[in-house]
Amino acid sequence: MYTLKDKVVAITGASSGIGLALAAEALNRGAKIAVCARNLEKLLASLPQNSNKGNTLTVAADVSKEADCNNFIQSAVAKWGRVDVLINNAGISMRAMFEDLDITVLRELMDINFWGTVYTTKAAVTSIRENKGVIVGVSSIAGFRGLPARTGYSASKFAMQGFLEGLRTELLHTGAHVMWVSPGFTASNIRNVARSADGSQQGETPLDEGKLMSAERCAAIILNGVEKRKRTIIMTLQGKLTVLINKLLPGLADKLVFNHFLMEPNSPLKK
Ligand SMILES: NC(=O)c1ccc[n+]([C@@H]2O[C@H](COP(=O)([O-])OP(=O)(O)OC[C@H]3O[C@@H](n4cnc5c(N)ncnc54)[C@H](OP(=O)(O)O)[C@@H]3O)[C@@H](O)[C@H]2O)c1
Repeated sequence: MYTLKDKVVAITGASSGIGLALAAEALNRGAKIAVCARNLEKLLASLPQNSNKGNTLTVAADVSKEADCNNFIQSAVAKWGRVDVLINNAGISMRAMFEDLDITVLRELMDINFWGTVYTTKAAVTSIRENKGVIVGVSSIAGFRGLPARTGYSASKFAMQGFLEGLRTELLHTGAHVMWVSPGFTASNIRNVARSADGSQQGETPLDEGKLMSAERCAAIILNGVEKRKRTIIMTLQGKLTVLINKLLPGLADKLVFNHFLMEPNSPLKK
């Protein structure tokens, strides 16, 4: 089995939530990590306890900027000579009806969630192919099924998955692997900083974060999948049912998905 021991693992968006848990778990498995986020102070303050100068490289990077992505990956290659695994995790979400949405919000979501994945993958793909490594996209159920009041988020995750599927097929005979994972609702900061219609952070979560899957559990599932070279992982039963019903009975899926998001506190669908 492919193991992460002594591999170089680059993780975007590692100062919070799933990315932070991925960093800690990759170190637990004996990997060296290169991690980035925009806020370097927060990234440094939140480094996992098992992190040290010998096993961790921290870089300030905004993945919506191509030069930052190039610098992130080049810094990892300069320190360790290669990248084995890239986890495109950095991402933001939104909650607003499309009709009310400032179009710049949709563009910001595409810039971070989709173009961030493209830029970072472009910078790392040659090293990963040479080392027969793995490229991962942290997607969402929203990448399989469009979600109401998350049009930009869904668009960015559909685009990410299409990009990665094409790339996986290109790399089919090289020994490198490409996969994406779709967590269900996972406890993190994502809903607090999700964009409202005008681009401001919504500043609250409509969910009881304590009842959601933990970021640590989510990270362990992702890294197990990397080591087993899974194609895609849909992490929850609710997610698996959503994808299946959407394929077999798309009209029913429209109604079920609408009703689910209508029940959220302060649902934009209630207007
Ligand atoms: N939590 C869930 O329920 C859930 C479900 C399905 C999928 N996901 C996906 O999981 C991934 C991680 O989300 P999370 O829930 O862990 O969110 P989170 O707690 O908000 O963490 C997001 C991380 O990404 C970084 N980030 C955001 N924008 C960035 C940018 N432009 N450049 C570089 N780093 C950036 C943040 O740091 P800075 O702000 O300092 O840059 C932070 O470290 C996302 O792709 C999300 O779509 C989450």
